[in-house]
Order: sequence, then structure tokens, then C-alpha cells
Amino acid sequence: MPDFHDLKVAAVDQLTPNAVALSFDVPSELHSTFQFTAGQYITLQQEINGEEVRRAYSISSAPSSGKLTVGIKKMANGTFSKYANEKIAVGDVFEVMPPEGRFVFDPTDQPTTIAAFAAGSGITPIMSIARTVLESNEKNIFVLVFGNQAPEESMYRSALLELQEEFKERFFIQWMFSRVSEPDALFGRIERSTVNLILKNKFKSYNFDAFYLCGPESMIEVVSQTLQENGVAQEQILFELFTTSDTEDDLAKDLEGKTSVTVLLDDEEHQLVMDKKEIVLDAVLKNDIDAPYSCQGGVCSSCIARITEGKAEMVKNQILTDSEVAEGLILTCQAHPLTSSLKVDYDDV
Ligand code: FES
Repeated sequence: MPDFHDLKVAAVDQLTPNAVALSFDVPSELHSTFQFTAGQYITLQQEINGEEVRRAYSISSAPSSGKLTVGIKKMANGTFSKYANEKIAVGDVFEVMPPEGRFVFDPTDQPTTIAAFAAGSGITPIMSIARTVLESNEKNIFVLVFGNQAPEESMYRSALLELQEEFKERFFIQWMFSRVSEPDALFGRIERSTVNLILKNKFKSYNFDAFYLCGPESMIEVVSQTLQENGVAQEQILFELFTTSDTEDDLAKDLEGKTSVTVLLDDEEHQLVMDKKEIVLDAVLKNDIDAPYSCQGGVCSSCIARITEGKAEMVKNQILTDSEVAEGLILTCQAHPLTSSLKVDYDDV
């Protein structure tokens, strides 16, 4: 069963006209449950208009701050993000899942030089990662390229300027705006030429150990590709998708018949029968099995399980590596069964 805990909102801070930061009170008995690594996210659940809605949001506070804060930008059709921006007040209670996620920075003893490319609300996990990098070793260097429409739309702008003031010699921000020209900022969106400018020109004397990319899929693709063209190894590039393009489910139309599914969750076995055309997670939830999930869009990684018998295939996967897929891991929110029986283990991941 997903491990939700009631947490009270301790502060609501307006970051931009369309984004808020929510900080939660974590009672002392839950401190260890809510310990996190810089870059992780939490899943919030709330009943909105009679329906239970779940969303994953990256933690923007650094682990060293002792705070648990997420940044939420209002999306045009976003039920949860609208609710968070318009209705939430200090004292409200959310159901919150403990931190998860693999887009993380774990400090080591070695000095490290990091670059991050973030667009819009993609800055949230980078806030936590940047502070952690800068605080964890006095030789660490952090270069941030941050794209937005305009300065007033940039989440955490003042916190970033403060961080820059605090770590003048080691924290560099390249601002980028697509709607206004500003002195010292680049005009446009983050693209191939931006990456080349950073690597070959502005910061060419730096040897970057890792790159953190966070924002829409199109940005991540172009940055990642350009980095690799410049000789950066794939293992040095970490990314977190904030929105993903809608992928046609081409698999479903060729699948026929039914599958008997055994689900192992919290040491309990459940049986169900589903159409192969259906998605495994949808069938599991329809059968009142309380499996973990958050985005239901192949973005967050909450729904990972292991296939221990039979075969399944994912409509889309940008999270699991080839070797993880080879060893049986699967995003159940993206998976169709291919065989007449399937065993899905949520406990062994
Ligand atoms: S629920 Fe987010 S990846 Fe499946």
C-alpha cells in the first residue's frame, strides 16, 4: 500500500504570479521517513471536487535546510496545480508520500563541477541540488542555465540571486528569456547553440563531471544530444522530465485476448484478469489493489514493478535503463501484458 502520511502546510510563498512554494510541517516521528536526497520528489494526494488527485512535485529545499518545500506552477489545465495555487492555506493537510526519485546528487569527498539546464518549473529540483553541491565542498562549482519567458515568470529568482551572492566565486547563472531582452541574459529558448556556448565558450575552461537537465522533453532531448556531440558520456547526463509529449499507444491496437495477472504487493498476492489492450496499472487500480503511482504518464518512476513471470511491454519508457528492463523492471503505468499470464511484483524493486 502506498505509504501516505498526513502533513500540514506550514507556509505558502508566492514565487511568481503563477507559482507557489508549499512547505510542510514534518512531525518529529516522521523525520526519518521524510529524509531525502537533493533532487528527489514527493507525491501529494488530495480530494479535489470529489475526486482523489495525485501529483508528484520535486523538492526545492536542500536536505541541509531541515525543510520540506515543493514548488508548484499553475498549469492551464492542471487540476492539482490550480488548486495548490488558488486554494491552499497554511494549516491545510495533504496526504504525502515519502521522497522518491533517481534524479539525485549525492555529495562525495571529491570536488565536483556540475552544470544544470533547467526551464520553467524544472528549476525546482535544481534548487535543492545546487545548494547541496555548493555547500558540500568548498571547491565545488555549479553552472546553471535557466530558461523562462521573462524574469518575473522565473520561479525562485530571488532565492537564486541570494545563492549567487552567497557563493559568488563558485555559482554562475546564465539567465535566458524568450519574451524579453535583458542585459546579461540570452534571448530565446535553451537550444543547441546555448549548450555549445556554455561548453565551448563561456565555461570552456571547466571540466564538468555531470549535467542535470530538467524541463520539457524537447529541451532535454536537444541538450542531451548536443552534450553527447561534444563528447559527454551518457552516464554523465541525468534528466528529469517535467512534461512529456503524448505518445500514441500503438501497441494496444495489435494486442488481443486476456491475461491472468498475479500481483504481489506488500507481501500479499492478488489475482485479476485483464485485457491485453489495457494498461497494467489501470487494471490493478480498477481491482482496488493499492499499488503505488503518481504521474500515470511515464515521468515519475513511482509505479515501477518487476515482472517475474510472463512478458509485458511499455508504450513509452524514458526512465528505466536497458539493463533494468532486461532484468524485468517495468513502469506499470506504461505496460501492456503480452502473455496469457503475468506476475507483477511491486515489492522487489
Ligand atoms: S506513475 Fe509515474 S511513471 Fe508510472
